[in-house]
Amino acid sequence: MSSTDVLLPPALISRFPPALAAFLAHLPGLALVAFLAGVLPGLAGWAAALLIGLVAAGLAVAWRLPIWWRYINLAFVPLLWLGLQAEFDAGWFLAGFLLLALTSLGAVVTRVPLYLSSPEAAAVLAARIPQGGSLCDLGCGLGGPLARISRLRPDVTLAGVEAAPLNWLVARLRLTGRAQIRLGSLWDTDLSGHDVVYVYLSPAPMKRLWDKARAEMKPGSLFVSNSFPVPGVSFDEELELHDRSKARLLFRRM
Ligand SMILES: C[S@@+](CC[C@H](N)C(=O)[O-])C[C@H]1O[C@@H](n2cnc3c(N)ncnc32)[C@H](O)[C@@H]1O
Repeated sequence: MSSTDVLLPPALISRFPPALAAFLAHLPGLALVAFLAGVLPGLAGWAAALLIGLVAAGLAVAWRLPIWWRYINLAFVPLLWLGLQAEFDAGWFLAGFLLLALTSLGAVVTRVPLYLSSPEAAAVLAARIPQGGSLCDLGCGLGGPLARISRLRPDVTLAGVEAAPLNWLVARLRLTGRAQIRLGSLWDTDLSGHDVVYVYLSPAPMKRLWDKARAEMKPGSLFVSNSFPVPGVSFDEELELHDRSKARLLFRRM
């Protein structure tokens, strides 16, 4: 049994939302620093913050959390410490928290954070919509792909649904008159009227989403996932994009 198994068995950790696991990963470092502060009264604040970050990042690796949690855990407490040293007005922390809450707090539940499709992905999608057809972006974020598609394909009908209020507002303002942007959940969205359904989410919802797509999408329509496959489902085509994140688009004809 490894030392991380002793701290918390990985099988148990995998049942937690990653954000909760990432939070728990900070507790052993905090306990260690509390102990060290007792035996080393001169322990510098920066060293304590760095130690907590290192332990939290190490646990993110050991617990096989998605890769970005390593970097978030490594930086979170040191950045907090730096912010406290700079004696920023508490209002900045509140503003930062509100901004995060409005764009990404739902990610704790949905396990889908905000990151953006490249213009290359949008251009490929634009070329795959049939003449006069329609595309829906499930979890449309800030509306970037829809905005680009609407410029490239004025003949098509575009729709998006977004759960995070601030993202929705940005997409809505950006696409007024060009796409229907709804504030709500993709799980309440009827997929039967669209020729192309596009998703760029995370591994977490893909199995359930595939079941929904199979039940609702019309024969001959196209399901496109950016980067995330569906476990156990084969796609008709995989296209590597030459964009910054080297993303790939997965296509499946229904
Ligand atoms: C990775 S971003 C992709 C944004 C956009 N589609 C793009 O490609 O640029 C995923 C978005 O899906 C949204 N989202 C996650 N779960 C959702 C749900 N159940 N219903 C609606 N939107 C959701 C998130 O808030 C986030 O803005």
